[in-house]
Amino acid sequence: MQNFFKEISDHKDIPTYKMFIEGKWQFSSSDRTNDIVSPIDGKIVGRVDVATSDEINRAVKSAKKAQENWGNTSLNTRITSMMLVADYLREYSGELGKILAVEIGKPANEAIKEYVRSAEMIDAFIGEVRSLRGEEIPSDQFPGVELGKTAIVKRVPRGVILAIAPFNYPINLAVSKLAPALLTGNTVVFKPPTYGSISGTYLTKIFVESGLPEGVIQLITGAGSQIGTKTTGHPDIAMVAFTGSSEAGETICNNSGMADCLFECGGNNPLIVLSDANLDLTTEHISKGAFSYSGQRCTGVKKIYGLRATLDKVIPRVVEYTKANMKLGDPMNKGINMGPVITEKAAHTIMRRINDAVKQGAELVYGGNADGPYIEPTILRNVTEKMEVAHMETFGPVISFIEVDNIDDAIEMINDSKYGLQASIFTEDEGTGLSLADRINTGTVQINSNPQRGPDHFPFMGVKSSGIGVQGIRYSLEAMTRLKSVVLNSPH
Ligand code: G3H
Repeated sequence: MQNFFKEISDHKDIPTYKMFIEGKWQFSSSDRTNDIVSPIDGKIVGRVDVATSDEINRAVKSAKKAQENWGNTSLNTRITSMMLVADYLREYSGELGKILAVEIGKPANEAIKEYVRSAEMIDAFIGEVRSLRGEEIPSDQFPGVELGKTAIVKRVPRGVILAIAPFNYPINLAVSKLAPALLTGNTVVFKPPTYGSISGTYLTKIFVESGLPEGVIQLITGAGSQIGTKTTGHPDIAMVAFTGSSEAGETICNNSGMADCLFECGGNNPLIVLSDANLDLTTEHISKGAFSYSGQRCTGVKKIYGLRATLDKVIPRVVEYTKANMKLGDPMNKGINMGPVITEKAAHTIMRRINDAVKQGAELVYGGNADGPYIEPTILRNVTEKMEVAHMETFGPVISFIEVDNIDDAIEMINDSKYGLQASIFTEDEGTGLSLADRINTGTVQINSNPQRGPDHFPFMGVKSSGIGVQGIRYSLEAMTRLKSVVLNSPH
């Protein structure tokens, strides 16, 4: 494996990783780097360069130049490249999974699974892309119009897609953008998350080795605050495909002019427990949904609404389940399913919100302590919407139980939120679940499951501050193409 990836860094004790611009692995001329600090032990595991404006411009220009040829390359050729990417992801998943785990503190088995899930996702994109097509519309289908015109409506690539991945799934949420973009004939400028840049660099090498012609993929590194404006505002970017916080999403949106946006942003996903819910199922889904990967999932369970009598039964069960099953510690160790949060700074924000909620009257039922970035799974009750922990997205292992007098109040509070990614309803009565789901304004409503993105061919989208556009296998392929109409006028 070392030989395969040897070009991507300088191999010092603390390696600095290169960018990939105009078909060449290269360091930035900026002399500015960002340290990548493992949240596991605070050690610097590598450095990545901060791209200059000129390098960003060269990357975008090179991607633009390559796009026409790549868009005209046969689909079978593009598929062959992506098959190879999937093969490499599987082959290297064990070693690269460990590198990813160290870089972002994700439990090692989950990090390995992230690679495998990404390969499976590519298989699914390949299966679906073969049936992506446009249509032909005759003019006489419109009242009063005779034959003589035909609209040939094609699906064509958008052009250069800027793919920005988040730290929590640096591989999977990069592949979910790169693979559909490339399969549909776009070229890509890839900006990995700062924490996740090292893994993003390994991933880029895999794409490069799949036989992509020069210019089809570019890798630029640097934090959003350092290179975001230049990159997202570049006039040759046709689409920004982004996953990250709602705040960053809004900034990108305002900066990217008329470029199309495909965004998955924040969520503070609520769950309603009805009095007839299966409590064992509900308990498991609350605990795993809230605390897996230390609550750093945009689909994580954040708030649970229910009547007092229902919450009185649910909360002790969730505490017991969490005690027994959610193990906080070094994510490289077997049996650990909760590691540190991404940075000490993030941990401070999470702890401040927990402490503020308690000061404002919330009851700390379980957890509430932190050792650096290692935060105990934390369960609060008597939370109100006024508390930050309830109305903002808290990207960490904390859940808030909110008591309501009736379920209509819960729905009103859910619909008042600035977020709208997913919501869940737990009930044994599917009819009730379906009719409540109709009243909830989120991208997806789950009945009897915690919020989640997969299976990956389901549509995945947020409303309000939670996103723009729809992702998922077919949906992403469609989003990354545009319709183009050629009207053939042949009067009789
Ligand atoms: O963090 C955002 C991800 O899209 C969530 O994906 O539901 O598979 O964890 P997941």
